[in-house]
Amino acid sequence: MKHKIAILGFGTVGQGISEILLNKKEYLKNKYDFEYDIVAVADFVYGNVYNPYGLDIPLMLQEAKEKKKFSKDLTDWDNLELIRNCNADILCELTYTDLNTGGPAVDHVKAALESGKHVVTSNKGPAALFYPEMKKIADKNGVKFMIEGTVCAGTPVINLADGPLAGCEISKIRGILNGTTNYMLSEMEKGMDYNEVLKVAQELGYAEADPTGDVEGYDARGKVTILANIVMGASLKINDVSCKGITQITSEDIENAKKQNKRWKLIGSVEKKDGKVTGSVAPEMIDLSHPLAGVMGATNALTFTTDLLGDVTIVGPGAGKIETGFSILTDILDIHRNQ
Ligand SMILES: NC(=O)c1ccc[n+]([C@@H]2O[C@H](COP(=O)([O-])OP(=O)(O)OC[C@H]3O[C@@H](n4cnc5c(N)ncnc54)[C@H](OP(=O)(O)O)[C@@H]3O)[C@@H](O)[C@H]2O)c1
Repeated sequence: MKHKIAILGFGTVGQGISEILLNKKEYLKNKYDFEYDIVAVADFVYGNVYNPYGLDIPLMLQEAKEKKKFSKDLTDWDNLELIRNCNADILCELTYTDLNTGGPAVDHVKAALESGKHVVTSNKGPAALFYPEMKKIADKNGVKFMIEGTVCAGTPVINLADGPLAGCEISKIRGILNGTTNYMLSEMEKGMDYNEVLKVAQELGYAEADPTGDVEGYDARGKVTILANIVMGASLKINDVSCKGITQITSEDIENAKKQNKRWKLIGSVEKKDGKVTGSVAPEMIDLSHPLAGVMGATNALTFTTDLLGDVTIVGPGAGKIETGFSILTDILDIHRNQ
């Protein structure tokens, strides 16, 4: 079957997955018998376009690179009309994350699932706030709601727990879930104070102009909620997860940790005890011998504590155009290979 793909949000990740699909077209066909057309794209900046036989993706990527609006296959359909009426079987929801309400992404995901389309997303909003509801709608309509990219971008954590680790009971998941704060803590060890390092992180594009979501731990809290609910089968609300960021960490704290052969990390944690699942985000001093202590810069890492294997740690990128684009590809391939 030739898949028809729709993309909501043609920013970093939307362009990333489009480039991957374009560049790997032959490889995906030969290796997985996977064929596709991207038939619909909706984006605030570039416009809404639809062609049931396939859009001109090289042209659209070029137009996006030049910050020009799309020039071909324009449609008057708004996002929801496009989602419902287009002939796609897979919708990639790649608009902005809103961890308070879920934003328009919630309506996008619902509309797609209700019209019998699989949804693949790296958007934490619908996953952190409404996973059980979305999964129910997906099940009712015989389609999938796939969210690998919402935690650690393309580094496989959700699929790891669900796939290769299936059969292991996971009692704890702990790790570095926010690359920006890990970069900042790593740089503070080199001698810069919190405010200096935040400025550099913003200049490098790691931290946003309003860094609250990262430095206060809210981004990590969204991911902890997702892990608790999907991997541990809990039904935590985002506010059930206790949350403390790195804003209080001083240069003295960094030096004190060094003296004790330790290092500060912002740790997201999910734990199952006596059948009850709890989640937290907080800075912790980690012993230098622990696998998470060696994870520096904007990298993410998670340690799964399992009954059959003990601790299993996975380390990899937590952001990036191609890295997050890959998370979308891996979920699309999962849908293709399991149908
Ligand atoms: N980039 C990463 O490395 C990464 C990693 C993990 C997860 N994610 C998540 O993946 C999603 C996409 O990230 P991104 O980096 O690609 O974001 P981005 O570069 O900001 O792209 C999002 C695009 O979607 C457009 N958009 C926003 N709301 C829309 C709507 N309602 N309808 C149509 N278009 C809309 C935006 O337009 P405007 O600019 O006008 O708003 C923008 O062009 C986000 O939820 C993000 O949190 C990203």
